Formats: sequence, C-alpha cells, structure tokens
Amino acid sequence: MGDTAAAVNDTADTTRLMKAVAVTPGRADSVHLRTLPVPRIRDPREVLVEVVSVGVDGTDREIIHAEYGEAPAGDDFLVIGHESLGRVLQVGDDVRELRPGDLVAATVRRPGDSPYDRIGLSDMTTDEEYFERGISRLHGFLCESYVEAEQYLVKVPRACAEVGVLMEPASIVVKGIEQAFEIQRRMKIWSPARAAVTGAGTIGLLAALLLRLRGLDVTVFGLTEPPYLNSELLDGIGARYYSTRQVPVDEASDRHGPFDLIFEATGYSPMVFECMEVLARNGVLILSSVTGGERTAEVPADRLNLEFVLGNKLLFGTVNANRGHFEQAARELAMGVSEYPGFLPGMLTHPVHGLEKFEELVEKLLHAEDAIKVYLTRGSAP
Ligand code: BGC
Ligand code: ZN
Repeated sequence: MGDTAAAVNDTADTTRLMKAVAVTPGRADSVHLRTLPVPRIRDPREVLVEVVSVGVDGTDREIIHAEYGEAPAGDDFLVIGHESLGRVLQVGDDVRELRPGDLVAATVRRPGDSPYDRIGLSDMTTDEEYFERGISRLHGFLCESYVEAEQYLVKVPRACAEVGVLMEPASIVVKGIEQAFEIQRRMKIWSPARAAVTGAGTIGLLAALLLRLRGLDVTVFGLTEPPYLNSELLDGIGARYYSTRQVPVDEASDRHGPFDLIFEATGYSPMVFECMEVLARNGVLILSSVTGGERTAEVPADRLNLEFVLGNKLLFGTVNANRGHFEQAARELAMGVSEYPGFLPGMLTHPVHGLEKFEELVEKLLHAEDAIKVYLTRGSAP
C-alpha cells in the first residue's frame, strides 16, 4: 500500500513542469522559453533551490549572439543565467549547514580534471573544456528551481539579501583583488594608495566599492560624460569619475596617479595598454575583461616593456571565482550596504519580473544604454 502511494507520488513528481529560459548554442537570437521537468534531489548532499533573481551580463549577451556558450552533452539547448540568488526549498539528508528558507548564491564553475580542479580550485582550471552553469556544458539558473550540491551553494546573509543578486559579479571582483594582494606579497611592504578602475559597469562599480572599503583613493574611467547615475553613485562612495572622452587615462594619471593598482573591466582590449602606461612602479594591473572579438592594436612596445622591466610591474588575468571568493563577496556586500547604503541598491537599475517576460529581459540587456544591472526577479522579494 505504502509502496503504491510512493510510486504514485513519484509519477506525479516527474510530470511536474517548470519554465526555463534557454538558447540553442551556435544559433543567434534563439532565446526562448521552454518547459522542463522540475528537478529533484537525487543525492543526500543535494539541495533544491527556488530561483529568486538572476542577473544577466556581457557573457549572456555573447551567448545570445551565438559567440559563446555550449549545450550540455545530450541536449541541443542551454538554459542560461549564471548570476543567481535563490531560496532553499528542500535539503537532502546529508546536507550540513543549509536549511529551508536560507538565501543562497550558486558558484558557476564545476570541477574538471586538472590538478587545480582536484584541490577545489576549478576557477584555476587548466582544462581546455570547462563546465560552467548557464554558460558552458551545464544548464544555468534562469528557471523556477534547480538542484545543486551543498558545496557549491553559498549562504547570503540577510544584511545583503536585497542586493544578493550581485553575489556572483562581486565574487569575480573579490578574486581579482585578492589575487593582486596575494601576488604582491612579493614586495614585502607593498601598500597601495591610489587605484584606478577602467569601466564603470557592474564589475567596475563593484571594484570601486571594494577598493574604497579598503581605503584606497579610487579613480574610475568610463565612456559616458558625467553627470549620470554611475558617476553619481561613485561620488557617493568618495570615488572620482572621468569620461575618457574628456579626460584620457594618461591625463588623469598626471593629476592623480600613477596608480598602484588598476582593475581593468571595460571589455575593450586596447585599454589594457593605456593602463600599462599609467601603472606605478611595483604596481599591479588586473585584467578581467572577457573580449571575444578579433581586435588588434598598435602599441609603443619598447617603452611599455622597458617601463615594466625597470619598474618591477605586474600584469595578470583573472576569471571566474571559487567558493571562498563567494563567501568573501557576501561579507563585502554586507559591508558595502552598511557603509554606503545607497550604492549597491542603486546599481539594480533594470528589474524584469517573471520568466515569461524573458523577451523584455533580453531587450534590456541588449539595448538599455543606461542600465547598470539588468536582472530577472520571480516570486516574492528576498
Ligand atoms: C562569468 C564567470 C565565467 C566567465 C567565463 C563570466 O561572465 O561571470 O563565472 O568564468 O564569464 O565564462
Ligand atoms: Zn558573468
């Protein structure tokens, strides 16, 4: 009798369906809403999470344009969305810390085979093929609910629930800055005073915030001429903003530089070389722009090289983030909310409510020029 009831429930469960936003990788403008089975916990260490909100970014733009992104093996579609905020619905028997009702953000990359993957540093993988939820070979979070192992879920404190959708981009910035400080221990007494951030989008603004929270003098560069929302937000945290149309990077450096730390996040690769020119001696330049194009640039190679050599300067690239960076991101967001209450909520400019409004979400991602963060919300607010 009991067995029959369980079997009936099982069948009922497998037929429960949900909406998800997907693309056909390799086919431009193929974003569509599809119906998928509601996922279920299959391993005692797994957690069922209800999606609360999902941010979209330049990577999603590239996936939509079919320049990036790959479907999971056996599927011809990819559910997109990698910047997630969710609420725990149900936990497996061996889940240790998470409880129903907890707010969580999921990390993006899952382990491959390289030695780095084996020690929990999948963000440092040397594998050619990698697995990222919502981007590469694994379905993402633009759906109603998902199942994930507890080890890939990071609790979002109530203090930053309202801005929890920024966890993933904040984790990217945390990783870049932490790496910079870790590498610079080579300098024994390195203590940066002046920072520059190139790019005033989500990553640039978060980088400016984290650097201000560390007490640095911060100059941010964007294209748009101030005043506009982004420059006003920066004003509120005591960072300075320049449009490179009015004040090029080298001119600003004459006034406020050279810069001990530069975070490059414009998505425009020639900017890297402009940054190299204004980096202080013993300084560090962090590259975070994922530039999928084929752009080339002519550069003053001898001079750049000479100054890097004579100045012991450092340039490095950074991508993705691991669990530790997400945990630190939660602390940074909570600090940001308490120190500068208007800043992070002010970045959440373009909410779209409901998965069925996916076309509006895409439209805003591709065309809303004044947008900082475009994101989907569903259900009740966190
Ligand atoms: C994501 C990262 C990812 C990278 C490359 C970014 O948009 O935020 O998690 O590693 O794209 O796919
Ligand atoms: Zn991203």
